[in-house]
Amino acid sequence: DPLSRLIIISNRVSAPSDSHSGAQGGLAVALSAALREYKGIWFGWSGETTEQFNGHINFQRSGGVTTATVDLEEQDVDEYYNGYANRTLWPLFHYRIDLAEYERDFAGGYSRVNDRFASTVRPLIEPDDAIWIQDYHMFPLGSALRERGCQNRIGFFLHIPWPPRRLLAVLPEAAELVSHLFAYDVVGFHTQEWLDSFCDYAIDEMGAVLDGDHLRLGDRSVQVMANPIGIDAKEFAEASRSPTARLAYRRMRDSAVGRDLIVGVDRLDYSKGLEERFLGYERFLQEHPEERKEVFLLQIAPPSRGAVGSYQKIRTTLEGLSGRINGAYADTDWVPIRYVNQGYPREQLAGIYRAAKIGLVTPLRDGMNLVAKEYVAAQDPEDPGVLILSRFAGAAAQLQVGALLINPYSAEEISDAIIAALKMPRHERIDRWRAMMDNVEAEDVVWWRKRFTDALIEERVAG
Ligand code: G6P
Repeated sequence: DPLSRLIIISNRVSAPSDSHSGAQGGLAVALSAALREYKGIWFGWSGETTEQFNGHINFQRSGGVTTATVDLEEQDVDEYYNGYANRTLWPLFHYRIDLAEYERDFAGGYSRVNDRFASTVRPLIEPDDAIWIQDYHMFPLGSALRERGCQNRIGFFLHIPWPPRRLLAVLPEAAELVSHLFAYDVVGFHTQEWLDSFCDYAIDEMGAVLDGDHLRLGDRSVQVMANPIGIDAKEFAEASRSPTARLAYRRMRDSAVGRDLIVGVDRLDYSKGLEERFLGYERFLQEHPEERKEVFLLQIAPPSRGAVGSYQKIRTTLEGLSGRINGAYADTDWVPIRYVNQGYPREQLAGIYRAAKIGLVTPLRDGMNLVAKEYVAAQDPEDPGVLILSRFAGAAAQLQVGALLINPYSAEEISDAIIAALKMPRHERIDRWRAMMDNVEAEDVVWWRKRFTDALIEERVAG
């Protein structure tokens, strides 16, 4: 392996022992799995604040991974994390220009923090290291490192959708942001759709030229790729058979008293389509009175980014909606929705997935969605459940072979898919599950990581 070390940089760094995947997001889980195979370090924000930024790095070693983290000032967190990343970029990149806020202070804080990250991590970088930067918090970090004389191979991977070019045009700093991506050697997206949208903007608005899998702008040439992230499928399938998972499975089954469990697990985020999901489920209850007490929906939704107004709002909306639906339909011995605002450890989730007849994954827009893949990996091969999946999740490109694809904006489609799933004969469930599982196993997290790092190394050999 010609790669001396891999340096992964992302906003959120989590040691492999922090295994609350519901709260953590799939990305952190995938990266700790990838890093365990490399010597190298994982650098990012500590999640803590300090009075005055000092660039002090806190190193930690856990489960074969070295993490290096730095504190930020409160103003940094407001402007960079709660501001530009999560009030501006996140909504816009999930096609929600109605929720996006544009403030110069956010943009300023965002570039200041990226400069701070660059200055802090720069001394750790050795000439042969490959650097791999993750996600929308850090678009400008490659440029900031180049400005500090870094000539290493640097890759960037975006874990959220890339919006169509006419939506991106709404962002005051759109051209600047896109030009930052030309500081990288390799830029990856989860799907061809997100990749195409990026190329559209670069070509139509900025005059870039696509030459095979390289996008050229001026004297810079960047390799672009669609590379869907996967899970550690073997590990997750094993987790679903662990003692903890078995216990969670039993407890779920016991508390279900013979009813079918429909499960959803999402960070509490407006992009996840939870409101539309509840309305689709309500439609199902209306249209199929005979099924009412035969099923229940367990929605696990750990709160996320609570400092941001749109997240406070979706939380209030869902509390009202779940309360209203439960009030309207519940009986003395049955509640249609169990709505839970906390995360659970992976093994426990795996057991819950395995107990569920239906996995309901209905984001309005999602870069990938690893819950869909985890649900598949956790199923009993002899008696698997059915995955109902939004056609607007990146995961649909791979899982359409077996999932029931729905339009998450349509309560009717959600309702129809639920009844179809409940009535689906076992042989069809097995066929559909097998097709999905083949993909989840083949295109797993190691496959994803290798395709990207191979491109990064090849670039070095070629360049
Ligand atoms: C998504 C993003 C990740 C992020 C995660 C959790 O998966 O792509 O970059 O880490 O959500 O969000 P948080 O704001 O808690 O890090």
